[in-house]
Amino acid sequence: MSNVIIVGAQWGDEGKGKIVDLLAEKADMVVRFQGGNNAGHTLVVGGKKIVLHLIPSGILHKNVACIIGNGVVIDLDVLQQEFENLTSHGYSIDPERLRISENAHLIMPYHKVLDQLSEKQKGDQKIGTTCRGIGPAYIDKVARDGLRAGDLIDFKSFETRLREVMNFKNALIEKIYGGKTLEVDPILKSMQQHREWLLPYLCNTSVAIHKAQLQKKHILFEGAQGTSLDVDHGTYPYVTSSNTVSGAACTGAGIGPKDIDRVIGVIKAYTTRVGSGPFPTELHDDIGDTICKNGNEFGSTTGRQRRCGWLDAVFLRHAVRVNGITDIAMTKLDVLSGLKEIKICTAYERNGEKSDTFISDINMLGASKPIYETFAGWPAFSAQPKSIEDCPTQVQHFLKRVEELAEAPVTMLSTGPDRLENLVSTSYF
Ligand code: GDP
Ligand code: IMO
Ligand code: MG
Repeated sequence: MSNVIIVGAQWGDEGKGKIVDLLAEKADMVVRFQGGNNAGHTLVVGGKKIVLHLIPSGILHKNVACIIGNGVVIDLDVLQQEFENLTSHGYSIDPERLRISENAHLIMPYHKVLDQLSEKQKGDQKIGTTCRGIGPAYIDKVARDGLRAGDLIDFKSFETRLREVMNFKNALIEKIYGGKTLEVDPILKSMQQHREWLLPYLCNTSVAIHKAQLQKKHILFEGAQGTSLDVDHGTYPYVTSSNTVSGAACTGAGIGPKDIDRVIGVIKAYTTRVGSGPFPTELHDDIGDTICKNGNEFGSTTGRQRRCGWLDAVFLRHAVRVNGITDIAMTKLDVLSGLKEIKICTAYERNGEKSDTFISDINMLGASKPIYETFAGWPAFSAQPKSIEDCPTQVQHFLKRVEELAEAPVTMLSTGPDRLENLVSTSYF
């Protein structure tokens, strides 16, 4: 039995979906534990691409049970679309394969409206959210004003709570933001429709996971977003509204910390970021454009162009510490092929002082200049490397230095989007 957590160790979009799909081949269960449909996890199998926003990336393997845990916020319209999309690709979804926590909070239409209005009101200071209602849904969870999936069971009480909550939300929308109020009845009607198909999927998912643990199953916990977007450990306030680090797997799935065997941190061989906020190694030149083009760096959820830059080992060391990363999975190594030189930021310089630890103050971080080490580039891979020794020596030097700087081993390399384009040097289960 093994419990393995997979988290993003940068600003999201590191390729977590691909890694989870790959490892799911040997797993029995995959659990999503935080975030919502701000996530876009891309799987490419036999040239076919599927992007998942809420359903765990183990769903393409028919013997893998999938769980949406209590820490996730769910937009039922999106979940229903995802069911339809998977079905149209020939993957069946039923309550045997997918279980949804009754305690997961719902993203309601007013959350999406409030997300947009809040961004508009912030103007230049906007976070650059996905406008999927994630922040407002988590606000309501913590304020104890949220509606949970399980609340749909007793629909009369659901209606009473919704009417109460919407009185307040409509006042907020209209009086504070000057927006257009929402009608309760169409929302109620749509929730009643969702209730029909959703109820068979609901259960106490913590119990389901515990049962799998007692049966010595292999379980993957799939993170969304990345460490630098964590509401505590990221570049606050330019973050998402959940904890994205490995510890959130315990609270968001309902398991204890003693159960965790391994934590895989996924990184790109460089860095990308979508949305606003400081990004010390961002490239505003031709190299940045080349990386963006070669890596097809456009968001899987919103289609926005991702900002691109060099790998930042200061952030990476921080991610290794706050997540307890035991293994690094590095993706998109192929994207850097053909560049003359490749850089890694090893420390920052600010006001003549050098620092190699994470800076949480965004103004100080914004004023910090990266200090780089430069590496020779490598040619394109002529074939899929079968071992590290098979890789060009330049790649080997680059990886060795990443491991030294990160203080964690790179045990998986991804050299293309397809499930088969990998080099794995350990057994995770
Ligand atoms: P996630 O949110 O962490 O699951 O990552 P996304 O799916 O949002 O973004 C990662 C993108 O990179 C997707 O389009 C993947 O298909 C693609 N990808 C993953 N690994 C590799 C790789 O090793 N090389 C290349 N070229 N693309 C990759
Ligand atoms: P995956 O799981 C990359 C970013 C948004 C914005 C900030 C807050 O695919 O890696 P939110 O809508 O969460 O309130 O937006 O977080 N963001 C992501 N960036 N990948 C993601 O998910 C992201 N989810 C949110 O762009 O900067
Ligand atoms: Mg993504």
